[in-house]
Amino acid sequence: MSGKATFFIFLCIISFVLAQPEGINYDEAKVPVFELPDPLVMLDGPKVQDSQTWIDKRRPEILSLFEEFVYGKAPEKKIKITFEIVESDPLTLNGLATRKQVRVYLIGKKEGPFMDVLIYLPNKVEKPAPLFVGLNFYGNQTVIDDPAVLITKSWVRNSDQYGITDHQATQATRGVSARRWPIKTILESGYGLATIYYGDIDPDDEGKFDNGIHPYFYQEGQTQPAPDEWGAIAAWAWGLSRAMDYFEKDEDIAHEQVIVLGHSRLGKTALWAGAVDERFAIVISNNSGCGGAALSRRAFGETVKRINTSFPHWFCDNFNQYNDNENACPVDQHMLIALMAPRPVYVASAEEDLWADPRGEFLSTKYASPVYELFGLQGMPAQEMPDVSQPAFGTIGYHVRPGKHDVTDYDWDQYIKFANKHLSHTK
Ligand code: GCU
Repeated sequence: MSGKATFFIFLCIISFVLAQPEGINYDEAKVPVFELPDPLVMLDGPKVQDSQTWIDKRRPEILSLFEEFVYGKAPEKKIKITFEIVESDPLTLNGLATRKQVRVYLIGKKEGPFMDVLIYLPNKVEKPAPLFVGLNFYGNQTVIDDPAVLITKSWVRNSDQYGITDHQATQATRGVSARRWPIKTILESGYGLATIYYGDIDPDDEGKFDNGIHPYFYQEGQTQPAPDEWGAIAAWAWGLSRAMDYFEKDEDIAHEQVIVLGHSRLGKTALWAGAVDERFAIVISNNSGCGGAALSRRAFGETVKRINTSFPHWFCDNFNQYNDNENACPVDQHMLIALMAPRPVYVASAEEDLWADPRGEFLSTKYASPVYELFGLQGMPAQEMPDVSQPAFGTIGYHVRPGKHDVTDYDWDQYIKFANKHLSHTK
């Protein structure tokens, strides 16, 4: 290697080290010794021996621990949503798909808040069609360059990359994230795709709960969620459930074959949505990391303290108790994966995405497996972390692919294969 190349590599290493926030560990040897709570041991001591006890006792117990201490409780009040098909085309994408844009009124009233659900359904398969659903980061118009797609009017995060400067999405953002949404491949594989802009449900603006869905559920005089009430992730997950309410009413959608997925913070959200709402048939987490699939107790890459500091609105306030104190938390993220049982769940990591702790994501799938075994199912078939590009498919699936924090065609190929394996639809 030339002296120049060596110097360049040296500079890269130095700048990587300097760019790391203080106190962040990327050294496997420095992962603290920890003991995980056993998903099968109940709070009052006995060990769960059968799936019925899991369903009746232990699952509700774990779910309410996550509600109380991690994501916060969403309102119990049952909402009877109303909706309106605001646009549709039975022959779009050269006849490959039917497009629908459905406005879902989140509190059942036209004067109230709404989210727009963009749906593409495959024309080549008999309806009702199975469907992937996921939230997106900058508006439905970003997932495909299709002039008919409505541009969100909700608050969006500013972005130099997309030229967003005043929190409003522009025409120029059409199709900017299309690379992450291989719509044609999805349709040709016999699946539909539905997506919703997460900011239609709750804008991702730090620490504020005076906009979005939260205020509609405040008690009189309340101005922010109580310490055990829903943060932003729980609100976004709640929105996914409202989309499911709509899917149940759409005869073209096989609502018992809906796969919820998400990337990064929206991967955390997909997992939480799958945990609280068992109507989702399959749950997929793409690079969800801390507060998603990664074990918090490893404190590798992003930590509980760091995420609560940078994004104080994502979790409930009670989660702050576990900053630098992960061992005190009555749950860890393998128990979140276990809440999907017996439904299939898939966790995907990226090799260079150390911030999200790929190994910690894998270990969650492994330690959730005993719960699947109660149902006579194999959870994660791999005992050791699989090599890069060697997916492991049980009722729990996992892969780590080369590259960075992102959603790639490779990821989608695995999701489609995994769904094909587990859903009994004819295509
Ligand atoms: C930050 C954050 C992660 C999150 C990611 C994202 O990197 O620290 O926890 O997953 O943003 O959602 O893009």
